[in-house]
Amino acid sequence: MATFVQWVHVSSAVVGVGGMAFLLFILYPSVGVLKDEQRGALLRAVLGRFRWVTWSVIILLVASGLYNVKLVWLVPWGPYWTFLTIKIVLAFLVFAIVLFLTIPLGIFERFRQRRSMWLSIAFGLAMTVILISAYLRRG
Ligand code: HEM
Repeated sequence: MATFVQWVHVSSAVVGVGGMAFLLFILYPSVGVLKDEQRGALLRAVLGRFRWVTWSVIILLVASGLYNVKLVWLVPWGPYWTFLTIKIVLAFLVFAIVLFLTIPLGIFERFRQRRSMWLSIAFGLAMTVILISAYLRRG
């Protein structure tokens, strides 16, 4: 079971962070070749799909992450727990940014107008989360 949950956790992280990297480094810099109207239509269609993928990834990461926390529950208090707490806080910041960018509500529109900036911040935080996770794994 632990191996299966670890697989779910790592695969979800790969899909979620990989999706952000694809948007930032490949799609956004490339849409300039399209006319305004086509660009808008493509970005709307992409966001519609990105929304469902990222929401699924968030649910899977939280569920598998909580299971992982249960597995490491008996680790004595110390640097491990400090870094795990920092990791979880950063992960929830990433989730908040991604949700603000993808929830189709008018109140988040101003946020979406600077989507590249917010996505870059979320990506940087997610890379930090992965670095901390590697540290936690190696002890
Ligand atoms: C952006 C979100 C997240 C990413 C990218 C991420 C990524 C990772 C990665 C790559 C690992 C290492 C797995 C391995 O070495 O096999 C890991 C382990 C772990 N994650 Fe996450 N994770 C995220 C969110 C969360 C959340 C929300 C929780 C808790 C609620 C959590 C709890 C854990 C725990 C307890 C471990 C095991 C650490 C250890 O090996 O001692 N993660 N995570």
